[in-house]
Amino acid sequence: MLPTGAAPGGRRGRGTAVRLRRGVPPGGDGGVPRGRPLAGGGATARERWAQALYAPPRRPKADPGPTTWAGRSAHDGPVTKPVVETADLTKRYSRRTAVDAVGMRIREGEIYGFLGPNGAGKTTTLRMLLGLVRPSAGTARVLGAAPGDPGTLARVGMLVEGPAFYPYLSGRDNLRVFARYARAPASRIDEVLKTVDLSDRADDRAARYSLGMKQRLGVAAALLNDPELLVLDEPTNGLDPAGTADMRDLIRDLGAGGRTVLLSSHLLGDVQQVCDRVGVIARGRLVREGTVRELRGGGSLRVVAAESEDARAVAERLYGPDRVSAREGALHLAVDAAEAPRLSRELVRADVDLHAIGWHERSLEETFFEMTASADGAER
Ligand SMILES: Nc1ncnc2c1ncn2[C@@H]1O[C@H](COP(=O)(O)OP(=O)(O)OP(=O)(O)O)[C@@H](O)[C@H]1O
Ligand SMILES: [Mg+2]
Repeated sequence: MLPTGAAPGGRRGRGTAVRLRRGVPPGGDGGVPRGRPLAGGGATARERWAQALYAPPRRPKADPGPTTWAGRSAHDGPVTKPVVETADLTKRYSRRTAVDAVGMRIREGEIYGFLGPNGAGKTTTLRMLLGLVRPSAGTARVLGAAPGDPGTLARVGMLVEGPAFYPYLSGRDNLRVFARYARAPASRIDEVLKTVDLSDRADDRAARYSLGMKQRLGVAAALLNDPELLVLDEPTNGLDPAGTADMRDLIRDLGAGGRTVLLSSHLLGDVQQVCDRVGVIARGRLVREGTVRELRGGGSLRVVAAESEDARAVAERLYGPDRVSAREGALHLAVDAAEAPRLSRELVRADVDLHAIGWHERSLEETFFEMTASADGAER
């Protein structure tokens, strides 16, 4: 039995949300007819793909297998292991390098934000991880196996570049189709509908769904197999602020309880509010990986003075030119906040009119623009 009930501290306005517990296999067949096997001679390519994707979960044995998991660094913490690990992962389309030697690590149970501007290579990377496109070079391990391994795909849920549904079927009937591929019990359909807050509209045709509802139905389909790894490619794309906030809340809930979530986005807000760790990709390159706090990289002492050149000279004399930069009408000093009294005394002594001095915490946005602007300019 899968547990149901309201999630503690759950999403706003969604008292009915179900907290899914990962690692609990669906309770037998649940009395649901399995139907004919779809991989037989008459199956279409789409059906064969879906069957591989939604085959019943094979839970990992005690030993995860691949030796690449052995080399944990102290930074990983004691209980985590990579769910996704790549080395020099590269995809070239003729002369264009869409993904350039990406080495990323996603740990078990975290919500990992894959952040980058349009065309940075997010979807291409996700497609490689899911076995949808073949890398030109490099390696990747997903849940301990090569990308696209059928046993692994059964443990992965995905929503990549918008869900595709039968428009003339209801949301519920669409899920029935996918549940058959997944060999998930019928009871699972109501659970996932409840999780994404679509129970009330489950019997409407999918064609009549709003964009936000379609996205949520896509997430519901991705949850049918109770995946250990959930891959969501820009799930907030095109949603209004309320829909975006709902989707963020939903993702936060889905990442609770041990499930690993890989969330790609070009929206800093998604990443800042939802993710445990972030990988920033720009022009195909992974330029940084770390927690939001690590990526922000602290702050600076911000000084606004009437005679900014004089102020700069004082600051450079005290701390050296490398620690002083000017932006947006202020000086920024890479020094400790405790330097403020000493610096103000020195500025006053040098006859500089000081308008403001204070600690400035960098936003992820500032860091993001710096990182993506400084990424090496391979031709797009
Ligand atoms: N099938 C393809 N053939 C040729 N080039 C491609 C193909 N797929 C992607 N690209 C190129 O690879 C680069 C990365 O594209 P990708 O879709 O991975 O970016 P993205 O980060 O997902 O962008 P967005 O935020 O717009 O979705 C782009 O320059 C794109 O034009
Ligand atoms: Mg994309």
